[in-house]
Amino acid sequence: MEVVIQPDARAGSVLAARLVAKQIRNKPSSVLGLATGSTPLALYGELVRMFEEGRTEGHPLDFSHATSFNLDEYVGLGPEHPASYRYFMQKNLFGRVNFKLERTHVPDGLAADVEVSCGQYEDAIREAGGIDLQVLGIGGDGHIGFNEPTSSLASRTRIKTLTEETRSANRRFFSEGEEVPRHVITMGVGTIMEARCCILLAFGAGKAQAVADMVEGPISAMVPASILQMHPRAVVFIDDAAASRLKRASYYRFVFENKPSWQRY
Ligand code: F6R
Repeated sequence: MEVVIQPDARAGSVLAARLVAKQIRNKPSSVLGLATGSTPLALYGELVRMFEEGRTEGHPLDFSHATSFNLDEYVGLGPEHPASYRYFMQKNLFGRVNFKLERTHVPDGLAADVEVSCGQYEDAIREAGGIDLQVLGIGGDGHIGFNEPTSSLASRTRIKTLTEETRSANRRFFSEGEEVPRHVITMGVGTIMEARCCILLAFGAGKAQAVADMVEGPISAMVPASILQMHPRAVVFIDDAAASRLKRASYYRFVFENKPSWQRY
């Protein structure tokens, strides 16, 4: 696992965006795995900026051949609901660059048969050739996607019940008095681990313990993100605050500062 510590969320997001852009430029038909929540907002903002700048300068960052699969969606929320992840993606990325809508996928929160729909989501990822680059955030409890602690580390796309901790963390996205759904559809930990490259972003002191457990703790279903220790290409972009509980932070900084030029972001 490569740990990249930056002074703030903005700097970390810019580096992560460069990695995503490089992926798209090297392989225009890339399959991206995407996350929602507060964390990737600056990353998506930077991709939009690069897209617009590229258009005016004649070297466009072209998403029109790319395919995307989002990690998760709330059960019961349709694409028009402002707290749905389809709505989030439309507002913050899909609608602001040249993604082809028919090549963007978000689990169907309104599926009549959730199990069938989850199986179809897995099939669609496989048929697209698998995920080249997966963007991840991390929950304060160590979840990735909505794979809460004790999720099977081999799990596939399925329905999950959110912890009360996650429901209250996400209440800010819902209007006052509105219930946060208890159930979600999420790619499994096994699904995420099949991505060829995983990048995880985490910013702020509130993520420091989860980051330390993920990077330096034992691999455990109690911290689903810790399975990324087994991934052959996982890069973690964090800020100083999120790095504050890492024992080996100075080593990770040293590694980053001494990267060979061809390996830099
Ligand atoms: C969202 C997702 C979640 C979030 C995590 C952190 O698609 O998969 O794992 O990444 O809950 O959320 P924020 O970024 O809002 O702190």
